[in-house]
Formats: sequence, C-alpha cells, structure tokens
Amino acid sequence: MIVVFGSINLDLITRVERIPGPGETTLGVDYATSPGGKGANQALAARRAGAKVAMVGAVGKDSFAAEALALLKADDVDLSATAEVAAPTGAAFIAVDPNGENAIVVASGANRFAKAAQLEQLAMGPGDILVLQRETPPAEVEAAALHAKAKGARVILNLAPAGAPSDRLLRALDALIANEHEALTLGEAAKLETRQPEEVAAHLDRALGLATIVTLGAAGAVGYSNGVRFASAAPAVKAVDTTGAGDTFVGAFAAALDRGLAFDDAIKRGVAAGSLACAKPGAQPSMPYAAEIEALAR
Ligand code: RIB
Repeated sequence: MIVVFGSINLDLITRVERIPGPGETTLGVDYATSPGGKGANQALAARRAGAKVAMVGAVGKDSFAAEALALLKADDVDLSATAEVAAPTGAAFIAVDPNGENAIVVASGANRFAKAAQLEQLAMGPGDILVLQRETPPAEVEAAALHAKAKGARVILNLAPAGAPSDRLLRALDALIANEHEALTLGEAAKLETRQPEEVAAHLDRALGLATIVTLGAAGAVGYSNGVRFASAAPAVKAVDTTGAGDTFVGAFAAALDRGLAFDDAIKRGVAAGSLACAKPGAQPSMPYAAEIEALAR
C-alpha cells in the first residue's frame, strides 16, 4: 500500500499570454476548477498507476472540499484518514502560459491542520511506502516520516515546494525527488558549491546513502542510488499544461517501487507518466492509467 500524507487543494486555473511579474496584472479569458494539491495529485497518480493508495490530509467543511476530493473518490483512493477541519479547503491560483508553463500561489487553509497522528488510523508496516511533500506543516511531515520508519515502511519525500528538510527528516528517507530548482535550493542549504542539480543528487547519495532523483522537465530525470547513476530521457510530447507533471512522476515512481520494480525501472515509469500528464490540461484530470504508462515506458 502507498500512503500519501499531504495537501489537498482545489485548483483555479486560467490561461494567460504571459505569466505576470511582480506588480503586474495579466488578463486571462476564463478559468476552470479542478482537484489539485501536491499530496492529492501524487495519491491519484499512484492509484492510476495501479497501486492501492490511502490519502491522509485535511479539507474544510465547505463546498470546495467535495470537488477537491472528487477524483480521488472516483478512483477509489482510501480517504478514511482524511480529516474535515474548521478552515477553508486549500486553494491554488494557477496561471498557465501558451508553452504550458505555470505559476502557482497556494492558500494553504485546511492543509495547515493536517496531522501526522491521523496516520495511526491506518495499519502501516513493512512493504508499505509513505509519500510526503512540503505543502503541510514541516513538523507534521517530519513526524509522519518517523512514524512510517518506526513501522518499517519506506519513505519518499518530494521536495516541493523548495526548501531544506531537517536533518532528522533527511535521515528518515529512503528516496528524495526534487526538480532542478528544488535540488539547487537544497544544495545551497547544505553549503555545496555546485550549481549543477545533478551533483546535489550525487552528493546526497554519496554522503547520506539517500537515493535521490532530479526531474529535468522535457529532458526526463536523473537519479543516483548506491553510487550508480540512472538517467531516463523523456518522450517528445506537445506540452499543453505542465501543472502536476512532477506530482505524476512521484506517484508513478512510488507505484512502480510498490510493485517491486527496480529504481531505474521506476524512474522510467515516472518519466513516462509525467510526460503523458503534460499533454492534457489540469493536474489530476491529465493523469495517465497503468496501461498508458507501461506502453510509453516500454
Ligand atoms: O504541483 C501542482 C499542484 O501544486 C497544484 O495542483 C496545486 O494545487 C499546488 O499544490
């Protein structure tokens, strides 16, 4: 089983000619809503990739909650340990440009009240995988990792949004996944001199024995585990909307590990799934199912 502890949002998405800079206003034509949140996205991606998945997070008692959870429910993700709290459901305001690139502002809302203690409602053990990101409170993310570790489960952290995890959290991890920007932020925090994201991954593997993957957008992904470098190129796709592509990578990668695939084969599944997700609009609606991922990965 894969357990995801993380954020649940409703995304409000508008397409713009250009993503605005500070102090600027840009007009979009209209907007769409769709379920999102890095945690929920990764849970759905893992489920669609074929894993049994439980999502642990928090939503409000408002009208956004049902829409935010709709696709998780439709695909049969276990929501029994997701809480309803007295705060608005998280919302993300997303601008997408003609190249499919995005800029995102998240109003955390109920995600601020997600607690690691909710994990106690699930029976976790060896063979399970906990997937974490950084859109819920850092102390709860760390407590969730330690809980899973104590139960003998593996722990994967997606370092999004960028920031430096505590040493305790880093030591509890079995794998770390970051994009180039997130990897460099971590490299700076660790006072590494390099400006190469891949070297940060190699360093974490060498110094901490932590398997680390850097996702490279249209160039695929590169990872280091036990001193060995694995790279996977991305198939060419016309990017319509890259929102949630990184989350799709994480979910599909975790699902592949969960069914016993090796690190490099799991990276391939992640890259294939992330590429497929770029070809359609929205984070969750664009996520591929296992058969599509396998066909592309092969
Ligand atoms: O990674 C994409 C996600 O980031 C969006 O779905 C949005 O909700 C934010 O959490």
